[in-house]
Amino acid sequence: MSEIDLQVKLGNLTLKNPVLLASGTVGYGNEISQFTDLSKIGAIITKSVSLKPRKGNPPQRIVETASGMLNAIGLANVGLEVFVKEKIPFLKEIQSTIICNIAASSIEEYVECTKVLDHEDEIKGFEINVSCPNVKEGGLEFGNNLTAVGKITEKVRAVTNKPIIIKLSPNVARISEFAKVAKDEGADAVSAINTLVGTAFDIWTGKPKIYNVTGGLSGPAIKPVALAKVLEISRNVDIPIIGVGGIMNWKDAVEFMIAGATAIQIGTVNFINPQAGIEIIEGLKNYCKQKEITSLAEIIASYKLPS
Ligand SMILES: Cc1cc2nc3c(=O)[nH]c(=O)nc-3n(C[C@H](O)[C@H](O)[C@H](O)COP(=O)(O)O)c2cc1C
Repeated sequence: MSEIDLQVKLGNLTLKNPVLLASGTVGYGNEISQFTDLSKIGAIITKSVSLKPRKGNPPQRIVETASGMLNAIGLANVGLEVFVKEKIPFLKEIQSTIICNIAASSIEEYVECTKVLDHEDEIKGFEINVSCPNVKEGGLEFGNNLTAVGKITEKVRAVTNKPIIIKLSPNVARISEFAKVAKDEGADAVSAINTLVGTAFDIWTGKPKIYNVTGGLSGPAIKPVALAKVLEISRNVDIPIIGVGGIMNWKDAVEFMIAGATAIQIGTVNFINPQAGIEIIEGLKNYCKQKEITSLAEIIASYKLPS
């Protein structure tokens, strides 16, 4: 049997395999590099970068929940200037494809960040975060507004030829409408999904466990929701989908592909098992061998509604 081809294309960018590390769960690559071989990973998506540094929310910012976690980091990040000066040199060394995730509180800020980073050769594409549930400005204010998502995509598209991925929120009624707007305005792919809004209370103090009151739920608890969102987009919009939400192992990754994902991202699992990405790549190769297929293209969006 010929070699198994795990390559995937996102716009004009070819990735060696479809396993990406999700934004916010590996810092700028530096938080995981000692524990795994990042050169084997399809791509690393950086922590959201904003024009100015952000302190994020005060603690408590993370709480464990049944089969998952709530986080309300509030997009804490070093800001564009420090990112370019201090983080990109490290990212250059790790020989992986780098996709920069951008967050902003205005359309102009998204455009400005993209323009600056477009000049950085090391950044191969952009994931535009229009869906953070943990910030007052930007975040969901954009993520559940079709016009805003369309405008952001259009304006960012105008300043770069690198691939643009719009990261969609699950906290909307019809996610496929957002994927359609992103496609119509020139996005190369969408990521689905960001975290789901959730909360948790301390029964003795009667107070929320998270300072921000609500946070974003991630981990295995959200996998069925993420899968259904990927399926909805896949049935309604012809755009590459990067599936994300609760993927813990290669079997989860295969499920997302059957539902319509071209590639996948792993987030929460990185905190538990930093080798998960490499294990998933190996698992996908073995799965292809067992299924006697030479390319994952044969399983992507292979589920069709019974007619
Ligand atoms: C601690 C933490 C921080 C995150 N920070 C970001 C972020 O800065 N930008 C972003 O687009 N998504 C962020 N996310 C969302 C993840 O990228 C991902 O969409 C989500 O966690 C679902 O995937 P998972 O269940 O595999 O973790 C964060 C998630 C976690 C758990």
